[in-house]
Amino acid sequence: MTVLLPRRRLLGAAATGAALALNAPAASAATAPAARFAIGENDFLLDGKPLQIRCGEMHFARVPREYWRHRLQAIKAMGMNTVCAYLFWNYHEWREGQYQWEGQRDAVEFCKQAQAEGLWVILRPGPYACAEWEMGGLPWWLLKHPGDAFLRSRDDAFVQPARRWLKEVGRVLGGQQVSQGGPILMVQVENEYGFLGDDKDYMRVMRQAVLDGGFDVPLFQCNPTNAVARTHIPELLTVANFGSDPARGFKALAALQKGPLMCGEYYSGWFDTWGAPHRRGDNARAIQDIDAMLKANGSFSLYMAHGGTTFGLWGGCDRPFRPDTTSYDYDAPISEAGWVGEKFRTYRDCLARHLTPGEVLPDPPARLPVMTIPAFALTETAPVFANLPAQAIKADSPRNIEQYDISRGLVAYRAKLPAGPAAKLEAANARDLAWVFVDGRLVGTMDTRHRRFSVQLPARKRDTTVEILLYTIARVNFGMEVHDRKGLQGPVMLRTSKGAAQELTGWEIRAIDFGADAHLPPLQWRAGKAAGPAFWRGSFEAATPADTFLDMSTWGQGIVWINGRCLGRYWSIGPTQTMYLPGPWIKAGRNEVVVLDLTGPRAHRIEGKLTPVLDQLRPELDLPRPPSTARPRLAGLTPVHEGQFAGGSATQDVRFNEPARGRQLCIEVLDAFDGKTHAAIAELAALDAQGKPMNQTAWTIAYASSEEARKEDGSALNAINGQATDYWHTAYSGAAKPVGPPRLIIDLGGPVDIAGLRYTPRQGPDGVTGRIRRYRVFVGDKLVSNE
Ligand code: GLA
Repeated sequence: MTVLLPRRRLLGAAATGAALALNAPAASAATAPAARFAIGENDFLLDGKPLQIRCGEMHFARVPREYWRHRLQAIKAMGMNTVCAYLFWNYHEWREGQYQWEGQRDAVEFCKQAQAEGLWVILRPGPYACAEWEMGGLPWWLLKHPGDAFLRSRDDAFVQPARRWLKEVGRVLGGQQVSQGGPILMVQVENEYGFLGDDKDYMRVMRQAVLDGGFDVPLFQCNPTNAVARTHIPELLTVANFGSDPARGFKALAALQKGPLMCGEYYSGWFDTWGAPHRRGDNARAIQDIDAMLKANGSFSLYMAHGGTTFGLWGGCDRPFRPDTTSYDYDAPISEAGWVGEKFRTYRDCLARHLTPGEVLPDPPARLPVMTIPAFALTETAPVFANLPAQAIKADSPRNIEQYDISRGLVAYRAKLPAGPAAKLEAANARDLAWVFVDGRLVGTMDTRHRRFSVQLPARKRDTTVEILLYTIARVNFGMEVHDRKGLQGPVMLRTSKGAAQELTGWEIRAIDFGADAHLPPLQWRAGKAAGPAFWRGSFEAATPADTFLDMSTWGQGIVWINGRCLGRYWSIGPTQTMYLPGPWIKAGRNEVVVLDLTGPRAHRIEGKLTPVLDQLRPELDLPRPPSTARPRLAGLTPVHEGQFAGGSATQDVRFNEPARGRQLCIEVLDAFDGKTHAAIAELAALDAQGKPMNQTAWTIAYASSEEARKEDGSALNAINGQATDYWHTAYSGAAKPVGPPRLIIDLGGPVDIAGLRYTPRQGPDGVTGRIRRYRVFVGDKLVSNE
């Protein structure tokens, strides 16, 4: 057990760092009297007095600066005394060495406003954040360095830039610590590192980097309950992240250290990904859990108190590849547009019972006005292919775009295609989506979601050209998969049905790099519609600007700009069909709207609505996907392992008698703890000979016996996305009755040696449906037939 001494003794090294922070620019200096925040044996101590932290998370990057004050007031009125904020490294250093802290990025101003509203601040500067943010907050340029395991490790290629970043954070925000009269109580080191690794020395290096930045307030780390012990070091207070079962979370912490109990992230709801049902939180349970934590003298941070919107191109991507929606409403008690309603009131009522003597809750701020915008047409267009830069990069075998110093955006690839019979054009990789044209005609799409990197080309009587337009959506923000390099990656092969293969070389590459803030490139506009990928332009008039929700439901897929500012991505497959447009970004008078649509709209008009549409799926509008004819082929096969899991929600490892080799892994469920026929899996990982989980970058679901898709998101991908909070669940709504035992077959992308499994049961209370008891495991090269 760890004993946490009063902070001054514990973090002695920090005193040296404090001097550095004095060099911070005058603008960041705080004016309130300095206070001493410390970690006691059972409590957080502010100037020696216990402080129970009731914290709400809000990311200032996801809220228009003009509204920060409004949202902070709502958080305060909900009953919080603290606001928790990530800093996203890539938001402030999109180009190496060029830091940005202006306007929307002004973290010091955010701290000052929080302080003015009577809120303390918990700062989470990374270097990694997760948070459904592009690459989890890591800058893309790190990927110019080769390797698939150096990010978030002690490799110099990561540590050096991370140290520079944390130094910069200290320079800018050091003056905002309580010790210097500011609101920052404590600083988090890294984020849920136990999900990824167990290298405690890595945590020590990151802690030292925060200290070297000049921070002298207490430092802490967070991990999901299941992983708190994995990366715990006595120099850092550990807090647990969970969305259920606070008693278990607190017990795990108490077994680890002496110190105040805290939930670092309690989930009010969950994030959405394109193509999957909208998520909602269980409000009654959340209130109960928060009540229980506070009664147990615990502290907590609500993730999210206010989610907001992932404006611009900052949206992240769940693994293996499920891009997050632009709306980050999160079903939080303060909605995307800052509205408070019934849910907010239940939180407020609960927290009102736990105020300190004399504390009075202010009223929530008034709801901001909303307006409609009558439908307007976008009548000018600029086709993408006609608006590419003249300058081309030449390559025989295209490399990932980071190698060409392209950060993200649209990348066009062109090559001469020789005359010949019908053939398959096959790239080694294509991230994220690509449309393939021969002679200007669309012949197919490549789609990372299904790891489809090939298209069928027709026979050609003469030489012609192939043009590929690639669109990057987001870099994965979780797991080893953050090593997410974009672009069409060679070799690009031409394969005929007779088996002949030839590499297609001589590529010209032209990119519209959208950069940090997605500034529009110079475009040649013309009147009239366009076919295929194009920019569209139109305008609307506003008398008195107010918030509105742009209805994008008649458009395909792409990006929206308003008065040159990038609002974000849209995708007709939903579940989000509208885009939140904040009033302060609208001008009185004429407002210009530009839309990039990659597939073409069904109607080229937009209107502004009074309410958002966050939960309408339109799978029929998705890019064509080859029909699934997958059937399991297990007859006559011998399982490589048969076993019985333990009950409860803890993660468990099982080892096979002997490692098995194959490219597919099947778990067959024989029965469940609750005696029902359903199965659920929060996470399934394959272990290598050392007992370590393998990289899942290339994994796809080859077959799932069924997936609940209506009542909740029981998608099979949830079992391999690294998030224990969601899960694969067999179907239970609708008429379809599952046939045979629940089975999940994962394609591992290539043959590997599997020595065991790591299984995380569905989380939640005892008796929850789907926890697997007896099961069998098969490993093979073709456990699924697609005929
Ligand atoms: C984790 C991370 C957060 C966020 C949530 C899911 O707990 O720490 O940054 O990604 O998951 O919203």
